[in-house]
Amino acid sequence: MTTNVTPESPQTAGTPRRKILVTAALPYANGHIHLGHLVEYIQTDIWVRFQKLRGHDCIYLCADDTHGTAIMIRARQEGRSEEALIADMQQAHVADFAGFDVEFDNYGSTHSDENRALCAEIWSKLRAAGLVSEKEVSQLYDVEAGTFLADRFVKGTCPICKAPDQYGDNCDKCGAAYSATELIEPRSTLTGAVPEIRSANHLFVQIEQLHEFLTEWTQSGEHLQREVANYLAGHFLGDPLRDWDVSRPAAYFGFEIPDSPGNYWFVWFDAPIGYMASTAQWCKKHGQKFDDWYRNPNVEIHHFIGKDITYFHTLFWPAMLKTAGFTLPAKIHVHGFLTVDGEKMSKTKGTFVRASTYLNHLDPVYLRYYYASKLGPGLDDLDLNRDEFVSKVNSDLVGKVVNLASRTAKFVAESGLSKKYPDDGGLFADAAAQGDAIAAAYEACDYNRAMRLVMALADRANQHVETLAPWKLKNDPDRAAELQDGCTVALNLFRQIVIYLAPVLPSLQRQAAELLGGGVGHWDDARQPQLGVPIHPFKHMIKRVEAKQLEAMVAESKQEFAVSEQQSAESSAAPPEEADSPAPLEAEPLVTDLITIDDFVKVDLRVARILSAEEVPKAKKLLKLTLSLGGDERRTVFAGIKNAYEPDKLVGRLVVVVANLAPRQMTFGTSEGMVIASGPGGPDVFLLSPDSGAQPGQRVH
Ligand code: MSP
Ligand code: ZN
Repeated sequence: MTTNVTPESPQTAGTPRRKILVTAALPYANGHIHLGHLVEYIQTDIWVRFQKLRGHDCIYLCADDTHGTAIMIRARQEGRSEEALIADMQQAHVADFAGFDVEFDNYGSTHSDENRALCAEIWSKLRAAGLVSEKEVSQLYDVEAGTFLADRFVKGTCPICKAPDQYGDNCDKCGAAYSATELIEPRSTLTGAVPEIRSANHLFVQIEQLHEFLTEWTQSGEHLQREVANYLAGHFLGDPLRDWDVSRPAAYFGFEIPDSPGNYWFVWFDAPIGYMASTAQWCKKHGQKFDDWYRNPNVEIHHFIGKDITYFHTLFWPAMLKTAGFTLPAKIHVHGFLTVDGEKMSKTKGTFVRASTYLNHLDPVYLRYYYASKLGPGLDDLDLNRDEFVSKVNSDLVGKVVNLASRTAKFVAESGLSKKYPDDGGLFADAAAQGDAIAAAYEACDYNRAMRLVMALADRANQHVETLAPWKLKNDPDRAAELQDGCTVALNLFRQIVIYLAPVLPSLQRQAAELLGGGVGHWDDARQPQLGVPIHPFKHMIKRVEAKQLEAMVAESKQEFAVSEQQSAESSAAPPEEADSPAPLEAEPLVTDLITIDDFVKVDLRVARILSAEEVPKAKKLLKLTLSLGGDERRTVFAGIKNAYEPDKLVGRLVVVVANLAPRQMTFGTSEGMVIASGPGGPDVFLLSPDSGAQPGQRVH
C-alpha cells in the first residue's frame, strides 16, 4: 500500500473524526522567540501534527500579543509607530517558528479588526450580564514615560520578606501577593524613574458572580491537570474572587473601550480573545463559519500554556467565554519552564538563546526531538542539559533511527522492496500493535513515554539489521533474495518508526517519503507493510551533533547580550541582571530611520573633560563619570564602559557628551547625560574624543 503525504488523509480506523481547535499562548510582540518559548510551541505543534496524522479535523492557531505599555514605550524610544514595531516583530516571530517546523494554520495579531470586534462583542455581553463595575484606582505612574505602570513594570523590595528586585504583583522569594504601591523603593522598569502614586477610574469584571461555575468547571477533573485544579482550589477558590481590573487609562497602546472613552482594554483582556480572532481569520480564508468552531459543543478547544499564565486562562477566560456564550475549552494543558544545565536561562551565561541564534548553529530537529523526549504530561520544569542533548541526538536519532535506512537502503536500490512481506519473526506485527500505546501517550502529552516506546522498537529493528549484516550478504550472489527480504523488513520497520515520530520530526517524514516513495502520511500506514516499490537513492537525513556547535551557540548568545546591555545601560535603568523577566526593553539591532536636520540639531552635543571615573560596585557594566562642561558646570553620567576602560586611565581625557538629555533616575544614582561611544559592547567600546585643542563646553556641530 502506498499513501502519499497528504494533509487530508482519512481518519484512523474505528475512531470518529474529531473537530479540534488548538492554541499556544500568544507570544508578546516586545521580544524575540527564545528556546523557552519553543518548549510550548513545539509541544503544541507535536500534538497538532499527531491529531492531523490521525485524520482528525484539527487547526492550530496563534497570534502575536501586541498591546500594552511596553510596546508603546519601546516604539517611542525607537521613534516609530507601534504598528511599525509590531509588524517587524511579527515577521521575525513567523520566521522563527517556520525555522523550527512549527506550523500554524493561522498566525494573527491581537491588533486586528477581528479582535477589536470580538472584544466589543464580549464586552457588551459582560455589561449586559451586570458584571462590569467602575472604581477609582491608585496606581504607580511613571512621569517620565507619561503612563501608569503595569505591575510587571515596577520592581522594588518585597514589603513582606524584604527581598530586593521583586515585581509589582508578587514576590518570587516568599510568594506573597501585594499591590505595586506597597513595594518598598519602587522604580519603573521602563525608565528607571521613581514612580508616583496617581489615581484614575478603572473598569472591573466581577468574576465572583461566576464563582460557583468556576469551581465546578475547574474541579470537574475534565479540563485541567490535577496540580492545576488543586492550585486554583488552594489559592483562589476558597475566598471570594477579586474583581478583575480590565481597563487602563490613556496613554496605552490597545483598543479604546467603545463605551468608555479615554480607557483602553487591558492587554490581558484582549489577548485570549486573540485566539478567537485568529480563528475568525482562518475561517474567512477557508470559507468556514466562525460559529461552527466557537459555538459548537462538538468542537474540542485545547489551550497550551506555560504555568506562569495559568490564572488568566483558568479563571478569567472561562468566565468570559461562559458569559458571552462561546464554547468553553475542553482542556487547558499547562507546562513547566525551561532551564538550561539545571539553571534558569541566563543572558550573561549565554543560555538565554534566541530561536534565530540556535538556527545559526544547529538543526531544528535536534531540539524538537530533545524536547519531545523530555516532555511529560505534568508541570515539571524541563532541563536542557547540553551533554544529554548531544547524546540523545547522536545515539537515538542518528544511531538508532536514521541508521536503519542508511545501512540498508542502498542494498535494495536496484531491486526495490520484496513483493511479499517476509517472515520477520513478528517484528512488524509487534510494532504495529504498539501503535495504540504510542498514540495514547501522544494524546496524553506524555511524549517522553512515546519516545521511549519508539526507541525500544528502534532497538529491536537494529538487532535485526545487525543479524542480517547486509554489508556482508551483498557479496554472496546466491543470497540476493535473502538480502532483499532482510532490507525490506528493515525499511518497513524504519517506516513504522518514522510514522510514529512524524509529529515530532516532520522533516524526517518528508525525507522518508522521498526515499520510500510515500507511505508515511497517515498513522495507520504503520499497520501495513509497504511492498514491491522502488527505493530512491538514500540522501543524508540527520547529521551527528557536536558539542562545539552548542558552545558556539552559547558564545553567540553571550555576545548578543553584551551588545544589548551596552545599549540599554545608556538608555534605561531596567536592571540588566538575570533574564527570565519580561525584559520589556531588550534592545534590538539599530533602527536606521531617517531623521531631519531639525531633529538632529535638537541634540546638544558638547565637549567634556572627565574629572573622575569610579567603579559602581554592583553594576557589571557601569562606570560613574564626573564631567566638566567648562566653567563650573559639572555632570554625573553613568556609562556602560566598565569592561573597556580602567577608570584611572580615563581621568583628564576629553569626550563628547549629549548635554540636553533629561536626567535619568537609575538604580545607582541619577545620570545627567550620555557619553558617545561606538562598538558592540563588552570590552569593545570606543569613546569618541575630540582632538586636543577642543575646550570643555564647546558645542559639537
Ligand atoms: N502574551 C502572553 C500570553 C497571552 S495568551 C492569551 C505571554 N507571552 S510570553 O511571550 O511571555 O510567553 C508565551 C508563552 O511562552 C507562555 O505560555 C509562557 O509560559 C511560555 N514561556 C515563556 N518563557 C518560557 C520558558 N522559559 N519556558 C517554558 N515556557 C516559557 O505570556
Ligand atoms: Zn517576599
